[in-house]
Amino acid sequence: MKRDLKALIGQMTLEEKASLCSGSDFWHTQGIERLGIPAVMVTDGPHGLRKQAGEADHLGLNDSVEAVCFPAGCATGSSFDPDLLEHMGQVLGDECQAEDVSILLGPAVNIKRSPLCGRNFEYISEDPYLAGKLSAAYIRGVQSRGVGTSIKHFAANNQETRRLTISSDLSERALHEIYLPAFEEAVKAAQPKTVMCSYNKINGVYASENKMLLTDILRDQWGFEGYVVSDWGAANDRVKGLEAGLDLEMPSSNGYNDAKIVAAVQNGSLDEAVLDRAVERILKVVFSYVDARRPDTVFDRAKDHAEAVAVETQCAVLLTNQGVLPLGTDQKIAYIGEFAAAPRYQGGGSSHIHPSRVTSAWEVAQQKGRNVCYAKGFSAMRDEMTDAELAEAIQAAQNADVAVVFAGLPESFESEGYDRTSMELPACQNRLIDEIAKVQPHVVVVLHNGSAVELPWADRVSAILELYLGGEGVGEAADQLLYGEANPSGHLAETFPLRLQDNPSYLHFPGNDKRVAYGEDVFVGYRYYDTKQVPVRFAFGHGLSYTEFAYSNLQLSAPALQDGQTVTVSVDVTNTGKVAGREVVQLYVRDKNGTPERPSKELRGFAKVLLEPGECKTVTLTLAARDLSYYEERLHDWFAPSGVYEVMVGRASDDIRLTAELSFTTEKQIPFVVTLTTTLGELLTCPKTAPTIMQLLAPLAQSAGTDGLDEGSMNMMKKMIMEMPLKSLVSVMPGDQIELLIQQMNLLLAQ
Ligand code: BGC
Repeated sequence: MKRDLKALIGQMTLEEKASLCSGSDFWHTQGIERLGIPAVMVTDGPHGLRKQAGEADHLGLNDSVEAVCFPAGCATGSSFDPDLLEHMGQVLGDECQAEDVSILLGPAVNIKRSPLCGRNFEYISEDPYLAGKLSAAYIRGVQSRGVGTSIKHFAANNQETRRLTISSDLSERALHEIYLPAFEEAVKAAQPKTVMCSYNKINGVYASENKMLLTDILRDQWGFEGYVVSDWGAANDRVKGLEAGLDLEMPSSNGYNDAKIVAAVQNGSLDEAVLDRAVERILKVVFSYVDARRPDTVFDRAKDHAEAVAVETQCAVLLTNQGVLPLGTDQKIAYIGEFAAAPRYQGGGSSHIHPSRVTSAWEVAQQKGRNVCYAKGFSAMRDEMTDAELAEAIQAAQNADVAVVFAGLPESFESEGYDRTSMELPACQNRLIDEIAKVQPHVVVVLHNGSAVELPWADRVSAILELYLGGEGVGEAADQLLYGEANPSGHLAETFPLRLQDNPSYLHFPGNDKRVAYGEDVFVGYRYYDTKQVPVRFAFGHGLSYTEFAYSNLQLSAPALQDGQTVTVSVDVTNTGKVAGREVVQLYVRDKNGTPERPSKELRGFAKVLLEPGECKTVTLTLAARDLSYYEERLHDWFAPSGVYEVMVGRASDDIRLTAELSFTTEKQIPFVVTLTTTLGELLTCPKTAPTIMQLLAPLAQSAGTDGLDEGSMNMMKKMIMEMPLKSLVSVMPGDQIELLIQQMNLLLAQ
């Protein structure tokens, strides 16, 4: 319906306008009855509805209506499947319509900087490209149902420790290259109705009052059209925030901050147009929901439970398999560990769903009449195992053909609100697995965790299946995957380092009481491990299948790419095994031009394809200049130097199957201004200034009597000369001549 929002705003009092800029309560926007403006509900998110009908809170403490708990971001990130995320979004969007929820508070796309972040389970990846593509798909799905999303937490909110006050201190390059692109992709490709600004500061300025972030980048550069909402309680100086681009404060501040807005307009310190702008943005989104409302939508929990199971089967990652999986129905199996009967399927905090039904693998095994026995072994709630439980578990393992240990992190080990201090599993679980491996050669470990864990026994077991926090249908999914009714196709969206100390943020996490320095800069996750050649337990992108895939015929549509154009990369992938399976084809790029501080490999494309046994499909991906680029601070923009790039295609960051070279040309150049501190080396490598410097150096070299020097000494001298700044020539030539030379070279460069 066409509405004249400006005219509507014109009918409001100043107080009414200010009141619209904060919630009416914990979960509703403010309405104005006399003008027909409804109060609409917003709800967490991201992997299900946490709609609170009674007592409200954002910590996951009080109850919410019965809903369906889908796999969390840690799991869906591993699907590498935008279609799956879009479909899940559609289902969630329908659920929102059924429950009259106007905005689902998700997706959560903060980068997994450290495995310790308590909220990694909700986040998608350590890689911004993957997080961007998957979150855009989720947003498209939810919003196709007329419901809005709130991509969060914008930005650089990568830890829970002091998340409400800490300053994330990072370089302009790291911000743009690692921490913003997932938001950028989502905004540009899917226009989320809202963006949620984070609690923390960025280089000393609260996200909620950060104009650079909320206006210059989000709106002016990326073209965001919706409204910005504060994370719950993230508003700081409300008037400053409004000016910076924070439109809606949540939850209600009980009129406290609204009064400040009114006073600022009245005393002339806030332009009323700024308030009108925020109100218009909020109303536009509110009415887009009102107009798309479908109150007759049915929340079919049984159907959506089956959807949750199906999603999880596409997310789980088979980390190792020495042939023991899939299990045979004729084998005698022991399920060990309380997670088999009481799986951990979601994380704590604001995303905590009240599920309609949770299935465990043990329950499903019984229903299906599998040849399985169960021994509790250890507690799913804490690091606790009695001697009797250990003995029973060992005996069950000994008597079985295969022992399947359901291990993982108890709920209290990782949650929103605090970070982990260790990457280890509970000690009792490691002990149990060790003991079982001594008596049973076929041990499978099934993992339930929201973030990378250390797996000291990885080489002593026959298979590891990572379920992550797989949602309420995790038991059915586990059963299908273990018995080969579903073929694992997830790939890790994060690296599993061997030990916590290997992680690049280790020395800088979680910072001190005021700030956290992102000292590893752009070398996050595999960008670090790969470049530094640090051995890891499982690399980014890793994931096995019950079938095998062969790669062949890598082709570029052209050997050279010009700035502004695109090149397509195609590769043939064949299922060479005996069962159908989905393969995740990954495309990485490397800069081969000696550009300083570039990771040795960056994900720039991926596709998931279903292949029947023997089937071959051609996968086509596209590359443009941005895919070759890094964020160049001297340009305040993305930049790829002209030169040669390596295009790598494979099934994991450490399993590249085919490579090709691509040359690239651009007119874009980094601005070069000669000063007294410019080195002779820089001047000699620039084609425009090199002749002048050669001319200058020839007589100097002669007078320095270099003729008699041997080759080694000459080389040493050349290297030292390359490092000399122009100012150091004052000892051999008059200073005013150097200054003149600088002027001449700058004129040359400007031509
Ligand atoms: C969380 C958000 C959540 C909000 C509302 C905050 O504490 O950081 O992710 O959407 O609460 O529950």
